[in-house]
Amino acid sequence: MTTLLYGRPPAVFDPPGEATQVSPLIPGSTPLEDVAEGSADGAMIYAPPGVLERRYALALALRALKVGGRLDVMAPKDKGGSRLKKELQAFGVEVGESAKAHHRRCVVIRPEMMTGIDEAIEAGAPRLVEGLEAWSQPGVFAWDRIDAGSLLLARTVPALKGAGADLGCGYGALATVVLGSPVVTALRLIDLDRRAIEAARKNVDDPRVSFEWADVRTLEAVGDLDFIVTNPPFHDGGAEDKRLGQAFIRQAAAMLGKGGVLWLVANRHLPYEADLNAAFKRVRMAADAGGYKLFEAVK
Ligand SMILES: C[S@@+](CC[C@H](N)C(=O)[O-])C[C@H]1O[C@@H](n2cnc3c(N)ncnc32)[C@H](O)[C@@H]1O
Repeated sequence: MTTLLYGRPPAVFDPPGEATQVSPLIPGSTPLEDVAEGSADGAMIYAPPGVLERRYALALALRALKVGGRLDVMAPKDKGGSRLKKELQAFGVEVGESAKAHHRRCVVIRPEMMTGIDEAIEAGAPRLVEGLEAWSQPGVFAWDRIDAGSLLLARTVPALKGAGADLGCGYGALATVVLGSPVVTALRLIDLDRRAIEAARKNVDDPRVSFEWADVRTLEAVGDLDFIVTNPPFHDGGAEDKRLGQAFIRQAAAMLGKGGVLWLVANRHLPYEADLNAAFKRVRMAADAGGYKLFEAVK
C-alpha cells in the first residue's frame, strides 16, 4: 500500500501515519515528480497557497495515483480552499467537497481518463525566467522577480571576505553579489525549499559554493563563519511569524566566529532589534529604505 502525503495537514484531517512525504518544504522528502505514474494507492495533499504551485502539485498527485486511487486534498478557505473543487474539476474528475475547521476538503477517485494534467505540470515546472535570467519555479519565494529587500541588501553590502553563508538563499539572488568579491573563499547556500536549492544549483556555478536543503533552525553551528547574509522568512504556513526571523538571528550568531558579521534585511515593522542586540556585540542600521531596514551586526 503506497500512500503519499504532501505537507502537514492539521490533525483533524487524520493524516496517514505510514506515508511517503512529498512536500518540497520538508528536507529529505521524496520529490513528487519522481513518484512513478499510476503507482500510489492514495494521496493526502495539504494544498499550497499559490495557484500555479497548487495546480502543479494536484496534477502530479493525480498522475502518481493508480486508477481507482483516492486523492484527499484540503486547504484553508482563504488560501486556495474555495478554488479547490473547480481546479480539480478542470482535470475532468468528479469531486466530493466538504468543509471542516475553516478548510475546504475535496476527495477524488482517480478515473482512467483525465484532462489538463500535462499542461498544469508544465505551468508549474522549473524554468529559466525571462528578464530575471535565472532558473526558478512557482512556489519559490519571489520566484519571478528580485525581492525589494534582497535588492537593498545587494546594493548596500560591502565586499565580504572569507567563508560565509546565505540563510534562506531562495533561487540564489544574493549569491552572485556576494561571490563578486574575490576574497570570499566559500559560500553555503541554505534553504528549506528543495525547489529553491535546485534552482540555485543551476544559477550559481562557482567552485566556492555548496548547497544545503535544510532547516536553518536545526543546523549544527560550529561558529566558524566570517559572514552571513540573510533575508529571513517571516511567514510560516501563510501566517506572519516573527519567530522565524528571530530564530535565524540566533542561529546566525551561533554560526559566526568572533568578529564575524551578519547582514540582515527585513520589513521595517518586524521587531528584530532586541534579538540582534542580545546576540551580537555591535549592531547598526546600515540602510532604511522602501519599507525595509538593513542591519549590520558584528559578533
Ligand atoms: C524572504 S525569502 C529570501 C529568499 C532569497 N534570499 C531572495 O532574496 O530571493 C526567505 C527564504 O527562506 C526560506 N526558508 C523559510 N524557512 C526556512 C527555514 N526554516 N530554513 C531555511 N530556509 C527557510 C524560504 O524558502 C525562502 O526562500
